[in-house]
Amino acid sequence: MTNLPAMTTQPTIHVLPPEIAERIAAGEVVERPASVVKELIENSLDAGATAVSVEIRDGGLSLVRVSDDGCGMSRVDAPLALERFATSKIRTLDDLEDIATLGFRGEALSSIAAVARLELLTRTEDELEGTRVRAGGGPVQIEPAASPTGTGVTVRDLFYNTPARRKFLKSPMREGELVRQAVIRYSLATPAVAYRLVVNGRETYVAPPATPLERIGTALGREVAADMVEADWEAADLRVQGYVSGPAIGRRDRQGQFFFVNGRPVRSGLLAVMLERPYAGRLPPERRPLGVLQIRLDPRLVDVNVHPRKAEVRLSQERSVYGAVTRAVEAALALYPRQEGPFPTLDWPFAGVPVEAGIVQESRPGYVAGGLEPLGQLDNAYIVARSREGLVIVDQHAAHEQVLFERLSGGGGGQPLTDAAIPMARYPRPPVQIELTVREAELLAPYLGALADLGIEIESFGGHAFLIRSLPASLADQEPRVLLDALLDELPRCRRLAPEAVQERLATKAACTAAVKAGDFLTREQMQALLDDLAAAWSPATCPHGRPAFILLTVEELERRFMRR
Ligand SMILES: Nc1ncnc2c1ncn2[C@@H]1O[C@H](COP(=O)(O)OP(=O)(O)OP(=O)(O)O)[C@@H](O)[C@H]1O
Ligand SMILES: [Mg+2]
Repeated sequence: MTNLPAMTTQPTIHVLPPEIAERIAAGEVVERPASVVKELIENSLDAGATAVSVEIRDGGLSLVRVSDDGCGMSRVDAPLALERFATSKIRTLDDLEDIATLGFRGEALSSIAAVARLELLTRTEDELEGTRVRAGGGPVQIEPAASPTGTGVTVRDLFYNTPARRKFLKSPMREGELVRQAVIRYSLATPAVAYRLVVNGRETYVAPPATPLERIGTALGREVAADMVEADWEAADLRVQGYVSGPAIGRRDRQGQFFFVNGRPVRSGLLAVMLERPYAGRLPPERRPLGVLQIRLDPRLVDVNVHPRKAEVRLSQERSVYGAVTRAVEAALALYPRQEGPFPTLDWPFAGVPVEAGIVQESRPGYVAGGLEPLGQLDNAYIVARSREGLVIVDQHAAHEQVLFERLSGGGGGQPLTDAAIPMARYPRPPVQIELTVREAELLAPYLGALADLGIEIESFGGHAFLIRSLPASLADQEPRVLLDALLDELPRCRRLAPEAVQERLATKAACTAAVKAGDFLTREQMQALLDDLAAAWSPATCPHGRPAFILLTVEELERRFMRR
């Protein structure tokens, strides 16, 4: 599945000239042990390794070691590898447009050596003797040493010289878990490569070379692999290939979703939404499908040079890529019927019935237009509407909040994600820079990932400055600073929550901030739009806080009250 070019001749390392170095997305490369592991695995894969072994101690804080059987480095090159902007992977500005390797900046090893003690042990196939290079704390030492062909990089005492950075780390167990997830992610990206993970001396993951489906079995479990269906969709210059789960399984979070763009793991709330769309009507709304999808396209259409940790890519034909993901998944699921049916909201019992959490339920049938007709607004707070069943009184804030909440958490509902509402409109352009206080910056940093999953992409910009890079379309007209302040308010309450709960809380807060308020005048069109959205919501009965979103007075109820029955 990997499309990394086989290195036929031994690559040589050179320092990039300043005009190229300047063009490289700068920023912190090493955030935590898992980022060290990520960079080292990428180097091993770029070196053509067929086997990669990862070892950590204390969550990677005291030790990370990644060894491979790749092409190795010569005596001359090994010390060069530790220099800033020293790389064998690009040479010219043009190369930057057309990157086929995972690395390209020549930054990773030098960044790691700046915050830890680093040791390289390496040998190329045609050298008899290997080389050991030690760096980090004191002058670089180079000596001959016995070594198998390939490279072993050992990183000790991460952040020993920058104690402030240690404060942003979680417990060794949690950091170790993030390392494990990184290894799993690359092992899914490159099933032909053997992987091994050793944690505190214990082998915890062993993946022999395999087919993609076998690798899913090893990485995610046999039961998962057994329920996966193949996806393969190809257009002119684009291919989406991999496996997605059938309707029998699902998770409460997106941890089972993996996307690779030209072999590079990427995280994107929008790709997740595109994967989830075809499951509407097939999977209960609170369940997320699993998927391992490789997206391949011309490297010139992918800008990988946009993020300091290479965690993001920019696609020049975003919409066709996203559309292709949905189409690939839709085709893969074609055999599974989708539940369609009459518009159900009004057949629902009285508002406020809790949706049973965690239980796999019958999916909600799809939406039929024309369900609710606005009659007027009451007290600038309620929409009074007519339905087939009777009179519906909608709390405009609660209803809008629920609609936005479902969109933000990508929760299955077909209607909210029409093409008109591409949920990750980049807003604003260029990104907005904001300065936070020390306390706010410390509060925010651990939650950047959770926010990114909601499509709120905020990036550290050095010191206490942050960049708001993108907002999902449902929040696009929000003042970024106001939105961020609201989220900052919520973060202290997220501390002891599980990741899914954090995401739910943040989505709730963002929805609450962006929703129309009681007191806002609504035009008839705005009322109709909100009623349509509510009708299409998966859980229209309540807002995310649990307050009713609407009250239904059935015709029978009216007849009873007027003593006609
Ligand atoms: N495991 C390895 N096997 C062989 N060569 C390696 C290995 N790791 C690093 N190198 C060499 O050292 C160079 C510098 O590595 P480094 O990770 O710092 O930069 P890069 O991979 O070129 O770019 P990036 O900063 O984007 O990762 C690489 O270009 C490569 O030539
Ligand atoms: Mg690298």
